[in-house]
Amino acid sequence: MDLLKCYKNQKVVITGGLGMLGSTIAHLLVDSGADITLIDSMLEPYGGNLFNIYDIRDKVTVNFSDIRDKNSLKYLLINKDIVFNLAAQVSYTESLYDPYTDLEINCLGHLNVLETLRKYNPSAKIIFSGSRLEYGKIHSNPVRENHQIVPESIYAIHKYTAERYYQIYHTIHNIDAVCFRISNPYGPRQQMKHSQYGIVNWFIKMAMNGEKIKIFGKGEQIRDYIYVEELAKALILAAINKNTAGEVYNVGSGYGVKFKDMVRTVIEVVGKGNYEFVEWPDDYKNIETGDFIADISKLQKCIDWEPSTDLRSGIKKTYKYYKKYHKWYWD
Ligand SMILES: NC(=O)c1ccc[n+]([C@@H]2O[C@H](COP(=O)([O-])OP(=O)(O)OC[C@H]3O[C@@H](n4cnc5c(N)ncnc54)[C@H](O)[C@@H]3O)[C@@H](O)[C@H]2O)c1
Repeated sequence: MDLLKCYKNQKVVITGGLGMLGSTIAHLLVDSGADITLIDSMLEPYGGNLFNIYDIRDKVTVNFSDIRDKNSLKYLLINKDIVFNLAAQVSYTESLYDPYTDLEINCLGHLNVLETLRKYNPSAKIIFSGSRLEYGKIHSNPVRENHQIVPESIYAIHKYTAERYYQIYHTIHNIDAVCFRISNPYGPRQQMKHSQYGIVNWFIKMAMNGEKIKIFGKGEQIRDYIYVEELAKALILAAINKNTAGEVYNVGSGYGVKFKDMVRTVIEVVGKGNYEFVEWPDDYKNIETGDFIADISKLQKCIDWEPSTDLRSGIKKTYKYYKKYHKWYWD
């Protein structure tokens, strides 16, 4: 990426930097000459994993801290140029059973970061990683940013609330904030201990273990799966672009894939595992959003970005990674 040149000498902070997306951004930026600090609370059972940066450990600064801790943020965010504020409780199902933690991290924690910038570093650029789940039920595909928003989980409500904080801090306090609604990411460095995050990764693990994958209904539901490195590139490019301030963008592959085809691809690539069709469980049926394909044209008008890793190639790369390193992700 030519634009990586723009990162030379930039002071970059990535909260949630030891998770999947944060550590992928760090890997892409590490040779750009940027000064990179990763902040992560390493809370269990979230996605923070020091192995995610094993090969760049001596090129980044790591601070074990929590975005709920206002005092440490004041010292960590001062004089920084770009903040990728990715720290989160990521599971929408977990948010339904522990809504307070979701509120504390995904709303209050993000408000802390915004307030810290307003008071001590208002010229920094900040990136927010929201979710396609903010939309709730989908009425028309591909989904544009002006699609109706009726979030259907606590996680989605809090992500949307946080997105509004960012926009208000942009409008009222002139903070250079860019928000993303991310579709389904997958790829290397995601936690694999539980199934609450990306489903593609979880199925890769199941297939590697020779297990039977359950497909709800007929498996016709369509999702937009984005390989994490493509996602990371989009955020990196948007962060350095002057025209993105105050905007909200969908980010996904722009392609829809049926659930059953994703599962079949996983099984073909891994060469193990099988699947069966089962009835929709009630708790999933209630929050199923319907088919989702992101319209990414708004983002593509702004940055020179084309997500070129198709699902099969992304699954191959992900499988290769976990085949080699699985002991750092599961027993
Ligand atoms: N993975 C997905 O399916 C998905 C989909 C849409 C949006 N997102 C968003 O993208 C971002 C990155 O997600 P990811 O997939 O890399 O997840 P991840 O769990 O791998 O990374 C999140 C990181 O945040 C850290 N963290 C959690 N709470 C913290 C706190 N209070 N203070 C500091 N660090 C904290 C975790 O330890 C973890 O390392 C998140 O904001 C997430 O909500 C993820």
